[in-house]
Amino acid sequence: MPTRTALITGITGQDGSYLAEFLLGKGYEVHGIVRRSSQIASTTRIDHLYQDPHESNRKLYLHHGDITDAGFMVNLIRDVQPQEIYNLAAQSHVRVSFDLPDYTANVTGLGTIRLLEAVRASGIDTRLYQAGSSELFGTIEPPQDENTPFHPRSPYGVAKAFAHWSTVNYRESYDLFAVNGIAFNHESPRRGETFVTRKITRAVARIHAGLEQFVYLGNVDAVRDWGYAPEYVTAFWHMLQADEPRDYILATGVPATVRDFAEVAFRHVGLDWREHVQIDKRYERPAEVPALTGDPSRIKAGLGWEATTKWDDLARLMVDADIASLQAGNDLRSTP
Ligand SMILES: NC(=O)c1ccc[n+]([C@@H]2O[C@H](COP(=O)([O-])OP(=O)(O)OC[C@H]3O[C@@H](n4cnc5c(N)ncnc54)[C@H](OP(=O)(O)O)[C@@H]3O)[C@@H](O)[C@H]2O)c1
Repeated sequence: MPTRTALITGITGQDGSYLAEFLLGKGYEVHGIVRRSSQIASTTRIDHLYQDPHESNRKLYLHHGDITDAGFMVNLIRDVQPQEIYNLAAQSHVRVSFDLPDYTANVTGLGTIRLLEAVRASGIDTRLYQAGSSELFGTIEPPQDENTPFHPRSPYGVAKAFAHWSTVNYRESYDLFAVNGIAFNHESPRRGETFVTRKITRAVARIHAGLEQFVYLGNVDAVRDWGYAPEYVTAFWHMLQADEPRDYILATGVPATVRDFAEVAFRHVGLDWREHVQIDKRYERPAEVPALTGDPSRIKAGLGWEATTKWDDLARLMVDADIASLQAGNDLRSTP
C-alpha cells in the first residue's frame, strides 16, 4: 500500500504531538508546521519524534510557517499534496482570547479560511479535519450534541464558530471532504501549563514537594467534560476515514467541576485542596461558560469511537506525570 501523507497544523501543540505519534505509528508520512521562534523550545512536545533531514526513510517533515500567511499555506499544500489535513493550529486559550481578540480571530478563525482556500486553490483530492470546540455552546444547557445551537461567549468561541461554519460552507459549496470535530476539553501531561487542569496538577506536584503552598484559580464552579487527549486524536483520524463527511461531538459525557478536579488531584497525594486553593478573580472570564457536557452518542454509533479514560483517572495520571517530571528536574518554573 502506498504511504499516505498527512499535514498537521499545530503539530507542536498537545493534540498535534499525539496525532503525529499516532499517524507515524500507522506508517504515514507526516508534515507539520512549526512557527519560527528565537528558541527551539516550541518543539519540546515533538522532539522525541524528530528525524534528521539527512536520514533515509524519513517520515516526519517540519516546515517553518504560520497559518496567518496565506501564500505560505497555498505553497505548502501544493508542494506536500497531503491526503489528510488536520487543522489544529489556534490561539487556543479562552481567557487569553479576551486580551487578544483580534489576534485570536486572525489565527483561530481566519486561519481556517486560509487553509480551506489553499486546498481549493491547489485542487488536490484531500480530506480536512477542523478542530472545533465545546466553547461554541457557551451558555446553552448541557448535554450538548450536534444539533445544539451555538452561543459562544469568548473571542475564542466566536472565532471557532467562524471556523466551524466556514468548514461546513466549503463542504457544501465545493464538495470538499471537510469535517468539524466539536471536541470537549481533553487533557494530558502535555497540556499547556496555563490551562486549569494542568495548572492544578503541576501545582499539586510542587506543593507536594514543598516548593509552593497555593494555587490560584478562577471559577471553580465551572462544569466541564474532561477526556484524555491521546484518545481524542484517534477520533480525528476516524472522522477522516469515514464514508461520508460528517461533524461529530467528541466527549466523555461525564461532567465534573473544577473543584472536583482539584479535590481528586490533591487527594491523590494526601492533601486537602481547601488548604491550597485560593480564588483570584484575575483568572475569571468577562463572560463565563457555566457548564459543558457533551453527548457523544453519534460518534459511538457512527464510527465506534468512545472516550475511555474518565476525568478522575485523568487527574491522577496527570499528577503522577508532573511529580515524575519534577523529580527528573524537567520542570523548574513556578505555577503560572
Ligand atoms: N485541548 C482541548 O481541550 C481542546 C478542546 C477543543 C478544541 N481544541 C482545539 O484543538 C486544537 C488543538 O488543541 P491543543 O490543546 O493541542 O492546543 P495547543 O496545545 O494550544 O496547540 C496549539 C497549536 O497551534 C499552533 N499555533 C498557534 N498559532 C499558530 C499560528 N499562527 N500558525 C501556526 N500554528 C499556530 C501552536 O504553535 P506553538 O507551539 O508555536 O504555540 C500549537 O502547535 C486547537 O485548535 C484547539 O483550539 C482543543
